[in-house]
Amino acid sequence: MGFLLTILLALLASVLGGLYLLGAFRWCRPGEPPLDRGPIPWLGHVLEFRRDTAKFLERMKRKHGDIFTVQLGGFYFTFLMDPLSFGTIVKEARTKLDFRKFAQNLVQKVFGYHSDHRFPQMSSNKHLMGDGLVVMTQAMMSNLQNLMLHSVGTGDNNHMPWKEDGLFNYSYNIVFRAGYLALFGNETPKSTESMEKAREVDRVESQELFLEFRKYDQLFPNLAYGVLPPAEKREAERLKRLFWNMLSVQKVKTKENISVWVRDQQQEREEHGMEDFMQDRYMFLLLWASQGNTGPAAFWLLFYLMKHPDAMRAVQGEVEEVLKETGQDVKHEGPFINLTQDMLQKTPILDSAVEETLRLTSAPVLTRAVLQDMSLKMADGNEYRIREGDRVALFPYTAVQMDPEVHPDPLTYKYDRFLTAEGGKKTDFYKGGKKIKYYNMPWGAGITMCPGRFFATNELKQFVFLMLTYFDFELKNPDEKIPDIDTKRWGFGSMHPTRDIQFRYRLRF
Ligand code: HEM
Repeated sequence: MGFLLTILLALLASVLGGLYLLGAFRWCRPGEPPLDRGPIPWLGHVLEFRRDTAKFLERMKRKHGDIFTVQLGGFYFTFLMDPLSFGTIVKEARTKLDFRKFAQNLVQKVFGYHSDHRFPQMSSNKHLMGDGLVVMTQAMMSNLQNLMLHSVGTGDNNHMPWKEDGLFNYSYNIVFRAGYLALFGNETPKSTESMEKAREVDRVESQELFLEFRKYDQLFPNLAYGVLPPAEKREAERLKRLFWNMLSVQKVKTKENISVWVRDQQQEREEHGMEDFMQDRYMFLLLWASQGNTGPAAFWLLFYLMKHPDAMRAVQGEVEEVLKETGQDVKHEGPFINLTQDMLQKTPILDSAVEETLRLTSAPVLTRAVLQDMSLKMADGNEYRIREGDRVALFPYTAVQMDPEVHPDPLTYKYDRFLTAEGGKKTDFYKGGKKIKYYNMPWGAGITMCPGRFFATNELKQFVFLMLTYFDFELKNPDEKIPDIDTKRWGFGSMHPTRDIQFRYRLRF
């Protein structure tokens, strides 16, 4: 009898322990945000969240208001949906809210990279601003010219053939390859015996890399969530190894014009004694961070301009003005136009068009791990207790970028939304009569805010400048509807369309 009782008690203890781990005993304590554990033990709401993050969070906001805690795959996430209160999370000390802890797991899962070293972040990121940015922007220009204009002047001026492509594929391809070459370096003429040959090797090699990257890109959301079926998991492993090899430190070291951003990060790791194979993995991580978002953003920017003739005219006028000011003219046999960092500072209309594009199509989830019990003070004065071990998150796309009070008619592309009446940058946006600081957050915010944002903006602007100056281009179907956003990718940055849009283009010179 005693033995039976012991077994029963053990069984009961393990059932209760199991239920505890599944989150069945978590209740909302006084002072905590409303808790919504979801329909499935432990998994919580994760299926609905993954199916369409924006829709799910809209539903939760309608149900619970501006702050709520939901269970997602064993973790409790507190989402804060009031943009006036974002500062409490963005500015909170790292002793309470930490990004690294959360990011490390993802980076290991997706890129195979892990390291015990803590590297000084500033040394790498300073190169994405100031003088480093000037040099990188110049390198981007030269690589865009190589990819987009290498056949200029080779045909009969009047009969340049039209080419057809998907606009998404074309924009992503060009911006990815030029960005990759600008950061990871070019083939040396020494190894190929001529400059022309070296430039051709750059074109071929970057194309191979792009094709493989797109395969990985498509597996990425499921890989990040750890739900790839076995065959796709094997394919992701194959691709990972291929990138570690294609981007290996030994290979990159044979290149010339490697950006200081990539070179410094590699040297830092070498000096800290990191093994070569782990440095190779880090190179892949840098490729992903730098090239995964800008190409898709270039697509949306060009597409919105093509769908809005008033926006296209305004940008075209600005482009012509900037070129005229610097005395540059595009001629059949003349030199390529050059767009420097200085010139790219003089384009408030294009800046606004870029910002509007990102408002509509960049949708990161910003997550922090809660390192100690703490309280969150909202702009309305209410205070909420948050537990150690949980996570807090922002999804600015739903919380602010699509808020009709902050951005009237939020689904419509308005190229001048971020322009003042005087033609400068508009930063005054309001909610509930209060001026709001975080009115558009495509780059994230705070300590983890995208350090590549200045370079990315330059890349987008250079791409548009060259398209408008050197090419005729048009949609195959002028009545083409704006494609839907692929909801599988919410949370990772630039969104992709659910389908490509056919267009045709030809060189004018
Ligand atoms: C349109 C293009 C881009 C978009 C929309 C974008 C967006 C983002 C976002 C949302 C984050 C995470 C921010 C957070 O969690 O708070 C991020 C991080 C990062 N981005 Fe970008 N990015 C773009 C282009 C670039 C480029 C061109 C580079 C490099 C040259 C770059 C380098 C990085 C790096 C290194 C991080 C990690 C920062 C850290 O954890 O310290 N990004 N980006």
